[in-house]
Amino acid sequence: MKAVEIKNGIYWVGGIDWGLRNFHGYHTPRGSTYNAYLIVDEKIVLVDTVKSYLCDEMISRIRSVVDPSKIDYIVSNHVEMDHSGALPVITSIAGKAVVLTSPNGEKGLRKHYGDALNLKVVETGDQVNIGGKTLRFVLTTMVHWPDSMATYIPEERLLLPNDAFGQHIASSERFDDELEAGVVMEEAAKYYANIVLPYGRQVNKALDAVSSLDIDMVAPSHGVIWRSHIEEISAKYRKWANNEVEDRALIVYDTMWGSTEKIAGALYESFEDRGIPVSLADLRITHISDIMTMALESKYIFVGSPTLNNNMMPTVAAFLTYLKGLAPANRTARAFGSYGWGGQSVDHIETILKDCGFDMMEKIKIQYIPDERYLMSIKEHAKEEVGT
Ligand code: FEO
Repeated sequence: MKAVEIKNGIYWVGGIDWGLRNFHGYHTPRGSTYNAYLIVDEKIVLVDTVKSYLCDEMISRIRSVVDPSKIDYIVSNHVEMDHSGALPVITSIAGKAVVLTSPNGEKGLRKHYGDALNLKVVETGDQVNIGGKTLRFVLTTMVHWPDSMATYIPEERLLLPNDAFGQHIASSERFDDELEAGVVMEEAAKYYANIVLPYGRQVNKALDAVSSLDIDMVAPSHGVIWRSHIEEISAKYRKWANNEVEDRALIVYDTMWGSTEKIAGALYESFEDRGIPVSLADLRITHISDIMTMALESKYIFVGSPTLNNNMMPTVAAFLTYLKGLAPANRTARAFGSYGWGGQSVDHIETILKDCGFDMMEKIKIQYIPDERYLMSIKEHAKEEVGT
């Protein structure tokens, strides 16, 4: 396995997880990478590591440049184990290495790996001179863990922000301009929607903190490195952090005998007739992490379920739990569904959507099967409500 030089004396030495399809519940059809970076200067530095099962791959890439036992510093920008999992092995090889981490990183790493690591805490603005280059640290607390931190190398105009700006893409290409731009941006959006979305305030703070830095390359800990589309992804992060939405709609539903699906169809047509872009997500076949990508810029989020055992369908409950946890804001929502006798599902959905802080539109609750006349009335009424 070879290292890839991304800047003068700075190498990508990460691991490619071609087979990853589930990242703690996030569907990753394109796999992922865990990006580690090796800096060869008077001091040898490794920034972040990889999941434990890709440790050998990382070490092999390091070995293609230097003897890993010569590493002087390991920067741990983030405790989560997809980036720290190889720390025990690499520190056993590089016995003199000092691990540089944030204050919360120190606490987290000790909880994960005990007291054997030789840790040194750094704060925002702290610098470590490694010869011709400097490591400068910026704490990015809660983007997306308490320990999260970015490392900046001013001489190379390089920012290593760990998870921020990441995408779950496994590829032999290392840079954003080597893959189809739409694919990279879609995966970056999916990553934001599923990992970073709850932390908009902290993202804004982090963007402010790095806005004064001279940067021409952003090398995250997942996916490809940004060198051609930095402005676009930065603008998107600002937009997503501010929960700025588009005039577009998302209709999410499950159905038992097709009636709730018919209501979803009528609501779909109401947006279509108004010329508002709309996505339809059937929870029987659509993963909730893909639905979150659709939700990221949608102003309208409608959720439907028939009543099953006095409640909503489990798929809908799972989606709403996930949605609420990811805390999108500035949305307009509606609950809908059909029922046989109890009819509790729509009320339960509405309660959760209200708890999300969304503006609510009138719920739609229909017994058994909506006929064509009723569906037409739903459509016409919904069209009036969403306006033009
Ligand atoms: Fe890629 Fe928060 O770990």
